[in-house]
Amino acid sequence: MSNSIKAINNFPFPFADDSYMYSVNIEPVTDEALFDVDEHYHTEIKERDRILKQGKQGRYLTLPHMRDAQWDALEVMMNDLATWFPESFTLTQKGDRWTWENKKLDLQDTFTFLDEATLPYEPFEYISRQVQEDIILLDQREGDLFMDAGILTFPASWSLGFDEGMRFEEFHGPVPRAHEMGVFKKAKAFLMRVEIGKPWTRLNWTMTVNRRLDTSLESYADWGIEDSTVTLENCGEKVHLRVEVQRFVRLPRSNALMFPIHTYLISLNELLLKPVWTKRLEKVLKNLPEDLVEYKGLSLYRDTVLAWLSQNEPQPELASS
Ligand code: HEM
Repeated sequence: MSNSIKAINNFPFPFADDSYMYSVNIEPVTDEALFDVDEHYHTEIKERDRILKQGKQGRYLTLPHMRDAQWDALEVMMNDLATWFPESFTLTQKGDRWTWENKKLDLQDTFTFLDEATLPYEPFEYISRQVQEDIILLDQREGDLFMDAGILTFPASWSLGFDEGMRFEEFHGPVPRAHEMGVFKKAKAFLMRVEIGKPWTRLNWTMTVNRRLDTSLESYADWGIEDSTVTLENCGEKVHLRVEVQRFVRLPRSNALMFPIHTYLISLNELLLKPVWTKRLEKVLKNLPEDLVEYKGLSLYRDTVLAWLSQNEPQPELASS
């Protein structure tokens, strides 16, 4: 199977119809891994390490009261990976002596659960360095959710440094329309009732120029300029649909909420292999209100993308349906 077809067959296409508006689009996770391990695993683990080496400011956060949540996250993540990808990950528990094997990274560590001194990093950093997802851990108190821990190397234009310690409606502050529509009030009430062992999921989308995962505010100087480089000639290769698969998982000891985000990118050239998706994206982009175009950072190249889509016919014969 060619890489393009593989990419498209695994892609979580976000649009159920021809227009898009914010809503509380949350679904249960049934019989599915919480964390995904795909063909980009090694590239993305290396990229995460490169970014963290430049400095953890704005990229990694664990407030002191999140210690239990860190261990919770480690436990849930190890169990999920070992259950869904047993050929790559194994967890052996003998009382509180645990052995974790990650064959993909050729790594094996034995440690004592709840004893930080037995791991090479603090627990949340240790396990997050081994997955492709960005992860936020939210403390639940005072009838609210607080952004009190996280690892964020691949964000869509936001900053963990800026949002540190904020409440749910505060860190959603910049999003247009959704506050007035009552979306965040409803979403927060829902999230606060998520139960242990019953995770939920939602998709979020935007677009990105070049196959770049790190579009953080911290690295804006490196990528901001790229939005102005899109032309009709390079559009298919440069412009990517960017979809986040987000999960909402209640953690057992701390009662914190874990929020992993897996980001998938697909170029417009690849998307052409699915005619239904290509046509739908075209209609969504045409119908997208100006304030959402602006918020999603598409202002400089949406019209070029629409012109390109109208000139390039999808190629159904290459796709598997
Ligand atoms: C608890 C987990 C969540 C966290 C940590 C989180 C965090 C964020 C952050 C940091 C942003 C970017 C805001 C900015 O521009 O600075 C964002 C955007 C957004 N969030 Fe959440 N969020 C969570 C859950 C949800 C849920 C459950 C919904 C359901 C409606 C939602 C809806 C949105 C929407 C609609 C946007 C705008 C995205 C876009 O148009 O590209 N979020 N979220």
